[in-house]
Amino acid sequence: MSTYTAEDKRKVTTHRLVEMKQRGEKISMLTAYDYSMAKLIDEAGIDVILVGDSASNVMAGNMTTLPITLDQMIYHGKSVVKGVKRALVVVDMPFGTYQGNPINALESAIRIMKETHADCVKLEGGAEIRESIEKILSAGIPVVGHLGLTPQSINKFGTYAVRAKEEAEANKLIGDAKLLQEIGCSALVLEKIPAALAARVAAELVIPVIGIGAGGGVDGQVLVMHDMLGINMGFRPKFLRHYAEIGNTIIDAVGNYINDVKSGDFPNENEQY
Ligand code: KIV
Repeated sequence: MSTYTAEDKRKVTTHRLVEMKQRGEKISMLTAYDYSMAKLIDEAGIDVILVGDSASNVMAGNMTTLPITLDQMIYHGKSVVKGVKRALVVVDMPFGTYQGNPINALESAIRIMKETHADCVKLEGGAEIRESIEKILSAGIPVVGHLGLTPQSINKFGTYAVRAKEEAEANKLIGDAKLLQEIGCSALVLEKIPAALAARVAAELVIPVIGIGAGGGVDGQVLVMHDMLGINMGFRPKFLRHYAEIGNTIIDAVGNYINDVKSGDFPNENEQY
């Protein structure tokens, strides 16, 4: 049984995330892509649900996050929002819907908000997408930033290795983090960067900093649900903790079902009309 109960049952807002940071309460965040899982993790008391473009990998089986479309993200976002009562729901803006021009970015963000009823959007990048973020914010849409290992740039990086180990990249990241706060982002995700750098950014910003592979010195943690539940069985990077082995549980359960069907044990006389 779960050992956690959320004391505050009110809907989580971006303002409440800042209050949590101020009082030193760590923020819990997980991805979800469908109604049933979103309902479960909301009932468990998760603070923030990210409808991540990692859906491209774990739901659609793509190698990267690049192929997922705006329509597909909206489909996942709509499904998740229907299952959620308390958590803040953040929807990732997919690759190609905000990098080019701010009007395109605004139109994409408006579609996400109107069609999914989510609470905010998340975009990857710093100074280079400043105008797009400002345009989205000008429409009253809250924005979460994402720096460090930004998977939509995998073709530029060439590897999923830790980012910002060198001084120049670390300095750019610090500058970008401050810029995102200054222009009005509500929170920031830092992915796969040295723990000391992430802790420094979290200490220097007023907005909450949520880490993935960024150590414990930040204001909260996010993981991809399929990774932490052991559904994505082979994926075991250093930063990941498995909280269950659901992949093995599913394989065992389905194996037992197949045995029972083939042996004629299922259904028995109590399992029929
Ligand atoms: O898409 C995603 O799941 C993400 C997390 C890794 C932060 O952006």
